[in-house]
Amino acid sequence: MAESSAGPREPVLVVADVHKIYSSGTHALRGVSLAVRPGSVHGLIGANGAGKSTLIRIMSGVETATSGTVSWQGEPVSWTTPSQALAAGMAAVHQHTPLVSTLSVLDNIFLGRKDSMRWDVARREGELRELCERMGYDIDPHQTIGELSTGGKQMVAILQALARDAKLVLLDEPTAALSPHERDVLFSSIRRLRDQGTTFVYVSHFLDEILALTDQLTVLRDGQVIVDAQTSGVTKQELVTAIVGQRLARVEQQNSAPDRSTGEPLLVVDGLSSPGRFGPISLTVHAGEVVGLAGLLGSGRTELLEAIYGADRSAAGTVRVGEHRLRHRSPRAAVRAGLALVPEDRARQGLLRDWEAWRNISLPYLSSMSRRRLLPERRRELQITEQAIAELNIKTPSPEAPVGELSGGNAQKVVFAKWLYGPARVFLLDEPSAGVDVGAKADIIQLIRRLARAGKGVVIVSSEFEELLGVCDRILVVRRGQIISERPVVDTDLHELTALASGL
Ligand SMILES: Nc1ncnc2c1ncn2[C@@H]1O[C@H](COP(=O)(O)OP(=O)(O)OP(=O)(O)O)[C@@H](O)[C@H]1O
Ligand SMILES: [Mg+2]
Repeated sequence: MAESSAGPREPVLVVADVHKIYSSGTHALRGVSLAVRPGSVHGLIGANGAGKSTLIRIMSGVETATSGTVSWQGEPVSWTTPSQALAAGMAAVHQHTPLVSTLSVLDNIFLGRKDSMRWDVARREGELRELCERMGYDIDPHQTIGELSTGGKQMVAILQALARDAKLVLLDEPTAALSPHERDVLFSSIRRLRDQGTTFVYVSHFLDEILALTDQLTVLRDGQVIVDAQTSGVTKQELVTAIVGQRLARVEQQNSAPDRSTGEPLLVVDGLSSPGRFGPISLTVHAGEVVGLAGLLGSGRTELLEAIYGADRSAAGTVRVGEHRLRHRSPRAAVRAGLALVPEDRARQGLLRDWEAWRNISLPYLSSMSRRRLLPERRRELQITEQAIAELNIKTPSPEAPVGELSGGNAQKVVFAKWLYGPARVFLLDEPSAGVDVGAKADIIQLIRRLARAGKGVVIVSSEFEELLGVCDRILVVRRGQIISERPVVDTDLHELTALASGL
């Protein structure tokens, strides 16, 4: 560990009594103060909507505080743009970092650099190669961003920040979409850079990560600092309690699989394949059954879900939902047949940011309602939305607030609700709890179990195998585009799944 993390050196970044009131009236930060020591990893945690991203945006000049001060290396600063923060030595990876999907990895990483490097392809390539070597990460610099997985995109955003040689790097949920391998790469890079003097502020909902990686941590709740402590002095249970407050903390998931009986085949996939991606794959999901797809990133699990849903035009094979055979390979036909897909990259695929939460939630089913019936329907939709807001603890001023004003995790929950409260019979869930806090994770798992009890079929993809073990009846392990093993949950464990998925 860096000797500086416990040393007496002056903090690099000090936030003093910061308030943030958005123009919508939301009081997101209420007098937040914290000090970040040089050469340390400072964890920032809290429930969805607690104010973490708001604070990160204020520290990095994306937004300005309503009152209070931010000091950088001993001097108060009033940055109004991210480039001012960057020039001072602070780089940020935001919760949803915008990358340009039509540009290559290389161009994205060096995007916005004003120096001559920007034009010197050979030099840039050399620098990226060196950076990747240092991190132990392999990426094709000439791939376009649009071709990468969500995790791949996230790694590019991280590389982009690390390529700046910043003194302080702010990471807002960097691991939400990463595979175990990419996580390891990121962690060892953070540790190495920290030991060389770089400072990090690290936001995550994974408490094990926070405990393993950070030196100091701050817990926010409803815009206020609840805990500010040295990481070595706190336990996971204390953190859970601090994060969720009075709300029941049910992090320990006990599986209720044995008392569930399954019914008719609901989803039957036969010989489904997509050239270069996966297959041929056959699987059956019964009414009342939750089936997990365990696999590492790049194993083909997301591609498989998308193909089942009809979003992959080059796929061959058959998909049946109940008695419906999906003839036209299109998501529209899939929705009509009773399939719902909650995609992994929800920011991109899921929401209309300017629309109210209630309209987003009812969106997939709008086409099934006639215009004339829209008014009475709206009342019903509002009702469903209020139910979703209560059951998933969606933090929003009202069902009418635009989704663009919700925190990242709460927006995730809206996408989730959008499909969950509809009439679908089979749910395809890609990383259902990515980006949601510990309390909401438990809520989502309860909801999935309830769907199964109501006779629905569920397929879940998750990088967190513990989560699969906690909610599934049966787990299919996917490797290199093939189902290589099928395990009833009662007969397997984390160890076995990890070994099978990675081919050890
Ligand atoms: N652009 C905005 N306009 C209005 N309100 C906003 C805006 N961004 C965030 N908020 C509100 O500010 C509060 C804090 O949101 P913030 O995004 O900082 O939470 P967070 O801790 O990052 O949560 P998450 O874990 O879900 O990412 C929430 O109530 C949110 O609805
Ligand atoms: Mg956030």
